[in-house]
Amino acid sequence: MWQDLKSEYTRVRDRPILDLFQKDGRAQDFSVTAGDMLFDYSKTNIDENTRAALIDLAVTARVAEKRGAMFAGAPINDTEARAVLHTALRNLDGGAVLVDGQDVMPEVRDTLARMAEYSDQVRSGPVTDVVNIGIGGSDLGPSMAVQALSPYHDGPRCHFVSNVDGAHIADTLRGLDAKTTLIIVASKTFGTIETMTNARTARAWMQDHGGDPKAQFVALSSNLDKTGAFGIPRERVFGFQDWVGGRYSLWGPIGLSLMIAIGKDAFGAFLRGAQAMDIHFQAADWHENMPVLLALVGLWHNQVCGYATRAVLPYDQRLGQLPAYLQQLEMESNGKRVAMDGSDLTVPSGPVVWGAPGTNGQHAFYQLIHQGTRVIPCEFMIAAEGHEPELRHHHDLLVANCLAQSEALMQGRSLQEARALMQAKGYTGAELDRQARHRVFPGNRPSVTLAYPQLTPFVLGQLIALYEHRVFVEGAILDINSFDQWGVELGKELATSLGPIIEGHASAEGKDGSTRALVGFVHRWRD
Ligand code: F6P
Repeated sequence: MWQDLKSEYTRVRDRPILDLFQKDGRAQDFSVTAGDMLFDYSKTNIDENTRAALIDLAVTARVAEKRGAMFAGAPINDTEARAVLHTALRNLDGGAVLVDGQDVMPEVRDTLARMAEYSDQVRSGPVTDVVNIGIGGSDLGPSMAVQALSPYHDGPRCHFVSNVDGAHIADTLRGLDAKTTLIIVASKTFGTIETMTNARTARAWMQDHGGDPKAQFVALSSNLDKTGAFGIPRERVFGFQDWVGGRYSLWGPIGLSLMIAIGKDAFGAFLRGAQAMDIHFQAADWHENMPVLLALVGLWHNQVCGYATRAVLPYDQRLGQLPAYLQQLEMESNGKRVAMDGSDLTVPSGPVVWGAPGTNGQHAFYQLIHQGTRVIPCEFMIAAEGHEPELRHHHDLLVANCLAQSEALMQGRSLQEARALMQAKGYTGAELDRQARHRVFPGNRPSVTLAYPQLTPFVLGQLIALYEHRVFVEGAILDINSFDQWGVELGKELATSLGPIIEGHASAEGKDGSTRALVGFVHRWRD
């Protein structure tokens, strides 16, 4: 299958994407809608043949069957023997979801109702500031979403502390009133060293500054023994099961800070958006299926064309943290080197995901995207309208810039065009040529665009669920386990062994020369 696609690539690699638009209806044929969201992948080198070969790949990889297994609660995360059911958290009016023969929905609904009641209480009480302490999936999701939905934010201020670097918690707590601050300790395992270190520091700060940690600490976790041992009473623990992966957990208790920020109704709309995408993903034909097509375009660019990175470029300032969120979602999920059966992958693992909001990125790194020697497929995102009707002219400029970038990437500027420009400026001879060559844009660089009416809670829910399912489909086709993360463990183990060495309680003997020298540098400067 991959071989067929490689042949496809050889066939189309030198063809100008622009030529594909000579056929009427290219934009319509190579775009798809889900609700009000539009995904346009017409500015890629994919034609009918390529798309058919890519869809064959999905069929051969039994994506439909694997999708069914995920939604049905089968233990598809088989290196941890767990089901993968973040979709149950937004299965608001769907039927039963069984794990080991047990319907999980009553507990999901009960927890959601408790969250709603508690968030109402916090929003109407004296709390002025909420500090969510968590890292990875227990931080990136709520932090990204609170920023994304700031026009709907009518609850207390929200802050996010993730890094074990004391600078993070010190800078965050400085200026807060311990008597009116609520601390949310968000950790699925309640054992992550960064989070627990920050949580203990926050508890000491609260005690020292007249607050009451017994009343002002909340835990979001699946480890009730540890939340109890930390001293957080059961009624302020919002639990979830091990079938919710950390980077997929925003939809349940880990979303509590978001719910406190925007209220239970807007949070409900966020869940409904995700649920709408779940329904679309399960029901739409391959040709119409947005997560499947987004995944196939991703596989085409990374595994087939060999483009090693993918830029996520939201023309939406409030999606500023989306690239970081997607880095965890995509790279922790699909950054794997072995297939489900333990054999080596025969194609590259998932791509490096990076990006920043437009138009800022244009004035920073787009130079490389347009004229660098490597091709970087771009994913643009744009809302038809913003939340500032009085600043319509800003939004018009934003949209114009977004569309201009994908146009420029595809179209490029030939040497001939560049020469004409420089000739008009009075250059001649060899200098004309030299100057013109600096102004050539190779073009024929692929991009896709996601367009949506406005960044509402519903649309954000759709968008995040879209990316979750894209990751699922890419993982299913690569035949990897997208739901474990063994690659983060070795570093954690070594950090544990280095801790006492850095503190000066243990010897660095046995460590490699570089590590010993670095430890020595730190110790010398401390002395
Ligand atoms: O170390 C990686 C990781 O396990 C992520 O997968 C997870 O989102 C993060 O750490 C935080 O884990 P926890 O919520 O258990 O503190």
